[in-house]
Amino acid sequence: MSRTGEPAVKTDCSKGRFLASIYNPIQADLVEVDRILIEQLDRNIPWMERLLNHTNITGGKRMRPALLLFSGLACGELGVAHHQVAAALEMIHTASLVHDDVLDHAEQRRHVATVNSEWDNKTSVLLGDYLFTHAFHLASQVDSLTAIRRLAVASNRVCGGEMKQNAWSGNFKMTESDYLQMVSDKTAELCSCACFCGAHLSAAEESLAEGFSQFGQNLGVAFQIVDDILDLVGDAETVGKTLGTDLKNRKPTLPVIHSLSQVDAKLREAMLAELESDNPGQEQVMEWLESTGSVAYARGRARQCAQSALDFAAELPAGVGADSLKLMAQFVLERTF
Ligand code: IPE
Ligand code: IPE
Ligand code: MG
Ligand code: MG
Repeated sequence: MSRTGEPAVKTDCSKGRFLASIYNPIQADLVEVDRILIEQLDRNIPWMERLLNHTNITGGKRMRPALLLFSGLACGELGVAHHQVAAALEMIHTASLVHDDVLDHAEQRRHVATVNSEWDNKTSVLLGDYLFTHAFHLASQVDSLTAIRRLAVASNRVCGGEMKQNAWSGNFKMTESDYLQMVSDKTAELCSCACFCGAHLSAAEESLAEGFSQFGQNLGVAFQIVDDILDLVGDAETVGKTLGTDLKNRKPTLPVIHSLSQVDAKLREAMLAELESDNPGQEQVMEWLESTGSVAYARGRARQCAQSALDFAAELPAGVGADSLKLMAQFVLERTF
């Protein structure tokens, strides 16, 4: 389908088909982003080929590149810089996942065994560092100091967010507002950066590019809330990564935070004892979450964040970029992977 055509709207958002149909207008651009990703990494480094297979670097949803490209399209034409920054962003994102899988003791990611499970934590730390630094090597070739600065700030915030999460581990005093601050950093920031850079590289005025940045923030928070729900109730085969890691690693997430705020002191004490234990029972926790309607509550909060993003997209001039950004917000809410 051409860029000027209407993206095919499908009602079934649970399947990869829906995402593929959203991506139709940027198919050639994503092929180019994948080409850059594969070409960039130095095969002379021992095991690089196998390591890349285990990060499946072109096998994720590629949501951040897509957000960048659609934001660019919403403001003008796409060019080489869009592709390069999109590849750098996906590399930063993948680096954060390689490290995150060490922190979460995760065994599967993007339908393949993680580097930490196939090799060891040492190899993951090194590969993550390599990908992080290489992303900046790549981004430095782009003729936009603003985009490079934004990438640097965003990467820094992602790492800070992961550090906040690590510090909150096992601490269920975390409030909803603490949670939202943490996910704004660890997840939404890269989505925000993607949207800002896409608009900026298409010569959008700064205030408009900041509007795209806020769109990405709202969409990113919704995305992480849904991710946390999938960690509890998702199907591991469909999601393609190890689930149940949040409870196992005693991470407070929105459904748990909400549930704890809804119960009396006695039940709260029992819940805390379970959540803080070495191996919290998923079934028991799910029963509690069910009784307080906390998964539904979290979905509602995700919907509100996505709606704020949609309100911005609704003000954009009609076209394939704006339409596709709206579909991305729909996908974020309804995804099952
Ligand atoms: C996973 O992100 C990490 C989170 C921020 C929840 P994605 O779900 O976008 O991962 P890939 O790139 O599709 O594997
Ligand atoms: C981590 O969030 C997001 C990153 C910044 C890497 P999660 O720990 O929830 O991501 P998944 O579920 O492992 O993909
Ligand atoms: Mg994780
Ligand atoms: Mg998760």
